[in-house]
Amino acid sequence: MEITGRSKLMFVLANPVDHVRASAVLNAYFQSIGQDVATSPLHVQPDDLATVVDAIRRMGNVVGFGVTIPHKVAIIPHLDAVTPIAETIGAVNFVKRTDEGCLIGDNLDAPGFIAGLARQGHAVAGKRVLQVGAGGAGRATALALARAGAAELVISNRDRAKAQALAEAVAALHREVKVTAGAASAEDFDLVVNTTSLGMKPDDALPVDIDRIGPATIVYDIIVNPPVTRLMALAEARGAKAIGGKAMLNEQMALVADFIRR
Ligand SMILES: NC(=O)c1ccc[n+]([C@@H]2O[C@H](COP(=O)([O-])OP(=O)(O)OC[C@H]3O[C@@H](n4cnc5c(N)ncnc54)[C@H](OP(=O)(O)O)[C@@H]3O)[C@@H](O)[C@H]2O)c1
Repeated sequence: MEITGRSKLMFVLANPVDHVRASAVLNAYFQSIGQDVATSPLHVQPDDLATVVDAIRRMGNVVGFGVTIPHKVAIIPHLDAVTPIAETIGAVNFVKRTDEGCLIGDNLDAPGFIAGLARQGHAVAGKRVLQVGAGGAGRATALALARAGAAELVISNRDRAKAQALAEAVAALHREVKVTAGAASAEDFDLVVNTTSLGMKPDDALPVDIDRIGPATIVYDIIVNPPVTRLMALAEARGAKAIGGKAMLNEQMALVADFIRR
């Protein structure tokens, strides 16, 4: 990749920074679609966030930046606007910088998650869904599932109070969907979604009881690395359809390209 004065620049703001892979994924994506956009991780301490954001605002060749741990919520007061979906989720993972230096925050987890499923030919409408996890990504996926017309959504989480709070927040926004907090038993669900970090390490416990998963179930594990988690491999061995986190991530790349074009 050749970066010149004509290149558009993006960053990924993180702390710590050594785990960041999104910049490499974005660079590969923009290269594959022939766009002269280069992305670099930026190591930003929480206390320096305001200064860094203000500096980016003044950089004319920057088109946007990704935001990851721990800045996804803290960034919001430093932006000029956030999209309605980012506001509802309460977290931003991508910021567009307009030519005038305006910073607009969005959250691409939710649309990326649904688009990843749609790309595999599956719609959420009418499905009974079990979601395990109620962290940052889980908040986005739960709202996305309700918006996309799930018939029922059960949210299960190690910290039960977080599952309950998320279920109540989603139910308040989507009264048409039956949303509850419950156990991670996959019985009778059409779609089982893992949004926990369980599965990133080979010896992690399974996030759900695999015995309940059958050929009619779709298992969507949003973990990106490894590309096939133990949950996915075991679900596939039981005849279920398994979708990994790359599907969600890839769709977010396309959304970033759209977002910075607008
Ligand atoms: N594919 C994509 O595009 C995409 C996008 C965003 C995130 N992700 C992936 O999604 C995963 C979660 O990310 P996040 O940002 O939501 O993280 P997070 O906010 O830290 O949430 C972590 C979630 O995992 C649960 N968890 C962690 N360790 C656990 C354990 N030992 N046993 C049971 N539950 C455990 C947490 O439960 P508690 O609440 O009880 O702590 C919480 O629900 C990560 O693997 C991340 O890479 C993928």
